[in-house]
Amino acid sequence: MNTDDREDTTIYKVVVNQEEQYSIWPDYRDNPLGRRDAGKRGTKGEGLAYIGEVWTDMRPPACGKGWRPTNGTRLMAPPEQPWRSPPPGLTLADDEVHVWRASLDQPADRLEEVWRSLSADERERADRFHLERDGWRFAVGRGALRSILGLYLALDPGQVQFCYGSRGKPDLARGLGDDHLTFNLAHAGSIALYALTRSRAIGIDVEQVWPLLDADQMAARFFSACENATYRVLPAEQKPLAFYLCWTRKEAYIKALGEGLAQPLESFDVSLAPGEPARLLRVAWDPDEASRWSLISLTPLPGFVAALAVQGQDWRVACWDHEWLAVSGLRSQLPRPASAG
Ligand SMILES: CC(C)(COP(=O)(O)OP(=O)(O)OC[C@H]1O[C@@H](n2cnc3c(N)ncnc32)[C@H](O)[C@@H]1OP(=O)(O)O)[C@@H](O)C(=O)NCCC(=O)NCCS
Repeated sequence: MNTDDREDTTIYKVVVNQEEQYSIWPDYRDNPLGRRDAGKRGTKGEGLAYIGEVWTDMRPPACGKGWRPTNGTRLMAPPEQPWRSPPPGLTLADDEVHVWRASLDQPADRLEEVWRSLSADERERADRFHLERDGWRFAVGRGALRSILGLYLALDPGQVQFCYGSRGKPDLARGLGDDHLTFNLAHAGSIALYALTRSRAIGIDVEQVWPLLDADQMAARFFSACENATYRVLPAEQKPLAFYLCWTRKEAYIKALGEGLAQPLESFDVSLAPGEPARLLRVAWDPDEASRWSLISLTPLPGFVAALAVQGQDWRVACWDHEWLAVSGLRSQLPRPASAG
């Protein structure tokens, strides 16, 4: 049984293994989430394993082999959506919300194509990232955004232009052929999500699910009094998922408003108990505001939780996969608007 016995922390890396039911990760390369630091959380004598698409607390035996999952933390995700390839002639009806998922890790030849499509300010932002990988992920995230918007606007990705709200929310520049199209995006690790609709404010958030050791303190700090009251009395095994459901729903709502953290987080309540419908429950500044919005939670990939906040109730969601070649093929079949150069 290998452990990484550094002075400050003992790191147990646990993965399901065919031959031995549970064993310690020999190194980071076997990490099932593809993250260098997955499995790193935990205090001495504890471990976390990603088993059957849920994070599970692991406890070492008193001696020898035979780690066992405890009955403690189990993160059950919201139901998975069917993510499909977009059909030819894809259109966005007024009562539809389209959510796209994209991988931010792309091969080198794709990176060149993406770079060419970016504006000067996007390239500058990409260059400012400390880690090259993060700069490329930002660039690919913007490239995919341009690719997706180009599909609805019948424009090449490089022709899409943005403007920004006072708190940085990106929007489409006017005069690109559809002034009603609204969107928002979020990224976590190597994935990005994009939400699009028409004539409605929209916000999306995605988080990679970690069993946070300080989740209770973070909830006390970031959640509203009502949300904390609900969170505190949940059974221990429901708390990790409830934490992420609450976090992503709150974030999606403030992103829909475009206010970022200028919007006090205690000024509104969302539902968070696993199994309960996602809802905006109360907004302090207007008793009717909560009824003007709807929320849903999504599972873009095992191990990730996302939430979508959309103005109005009368909409339905469709989830699409952003495959570069397929989407550029669809785009090239579209009739070009007269104004596109
Ligand atoms: C600006 C903010 C949206 C950034 O959120 P984040 O979690 O760092 O990042 P996300 O992946 O969710 O979203 C990033 C995208 O949101 C968009 N965005 C930026 N400012 C935005 C705003 N004011 N409103 C909506 N969307 C915004 C951008 O497109 C950005 O991606 P890009 O820069 O690559 O284009 C803001 O809400 C924030 O700083 N939140 C901090 C998290 C927090 O404390 N949440 C508490 C929840 S209980």
